[in-house]
Amino acid sequence: MGNFYACVVMSRYVVIPAAGSGTRFRAGFENNGNAEVLPKQFLFLSYIIQFFADDGYVDGIVCAVPRGIDFLPQTQKVYFVCGGGNRQASVCNALEKVDEIRRRPSGEFDKKCSVLIHDAARPHISKEIVSKLWELLENGENAVIPAVSPVDSVIVDGSYIDRNSVKLIQTPQGFDFDMIYELHKKYAGREEPDDASLCRLEGIDVSIIEGDIRNKKVTYGGDLSHTIRTGFGFDSHQFSDDPSRQLKLCGICIENHRGLIGVSDADVAIHSVIDAMLGALAMGGIGEHFPESSSSSVNADSAKFLAQINSIAAGKGFVVSNLDVTIICDSPEIRKYKDRMTQRIASILETEIENINIKGKTTEGTIAKDGIIAMANVLLTSVA
Ligand code: CTP
Ligand code: MG
Repeated sequence: MGNFYACVVMSRYVVIPAAGSGTRFRAGFENNGNAEVLPKQFLFLSYIIQFFADDGYVDGIVCAVPRGIDFLPQTQKVYFVCGGGNRQASVCNALEKVDEIRRRPSGEFDKKCSVLIHDAARPHISKEIVSKLWELLENGENAVIPAVSPVDSVIVDGSYIDRNSVKLIQTPQGFDFDMIYELHKKYAGREEPDDASLCRLEGIDVSIIEGDIRNKKVTYGGDLSHTIRTGFGFDSHQFSDDPSRQLKLCGICIENHRGLIGVSDADVAIHSVIDAMLGALAMGGIGEHFPESSSSSVNADSAKFLAQINSIAAGKGFVVSNLDVTIICDSPEIRKYKDRMTQRIASILETEIENINIKGKTTEGTIAKDGIIAMANVLLTSVA
């Protein structure tokens, strides 16, 4: 409903500054002893264009590209303009093109118009952030930007400060089109760090939403190399005869079913995920971090343990790339709960549901008649 409403009342454009020279990245080759640099953004530009083109509600995409290649074929939705001497100038040229498209008879100039400005140097853009930006713009915000806090300690002027008070600003940044275009024209020629910083010059409020640590700007040659680590986890718990024990699997309460024996909530599936994560991080197993002998383990919510391990992984610069969990039991029927389980685990691990797979396996009374077994495989990818 939100999207349908938006496409009626608001037109949506995307501007992609992709006219830099990528000097720090130093992609390229040698030609007769001369280094020829290939601008880094060409590694990702078509992917990013496709990403926005796949959003059915986008009315037009304008890319600012280096002089000489702005002849690229235009389509009904994708346009190329020549970039300028700095990022600011490139964005301004692209906004000018958006303005021109909007003024065409098909451009529905009377509609409120919003624009997302996204650097071609950030290939790890996420659908979640993009929909959040459109939603907030649709609800009347003039400027919205994603930001993350650093995972490293921060020293300013020789003193440590709380890293959560530091915000690292990302793109895409979303704006009311008329406002940001006016600001770009007004401050043309001035070197500003990004587009939202122009709003600050005018005292215009900028809303901040949670960004994504994966959405890094590719700047140096090594930025595209990743470390990957895998881990495997296993756990098994016996059914309890205590009618007050609640069965919990993947953080979901399963009603009207025998619970499992355990010191904590006995969420066998989450325990296997924790062990897989700890395995990938080479940090031992669940018992070393959450000993059963500790009073904090009694009836503990295992989802909180998993969230803690996920924060440790993030602190080491790793995020979950994908997770595969197998729950082995004859009852309950996992299929019935699997969507909710997937959503719950994705939310604890701060990842998208596409990265989580949960499946049930019955054993026809051969293995798991007295309890539940769970196994998990995880792949962690470095983002630092
Ligand atoms: N950009 C642009 N026009 C410019 C300079 C930069 O459109 N005149 C774009 C880049 O292509 C990139 C984004 O702005 O998508 C962020 O810039 P940056 O990461 O600094 O890229 P480059 O300027 O290409 O890299 P470098 O500074 O290392 O040369
Ligand atoms: Mg630059």
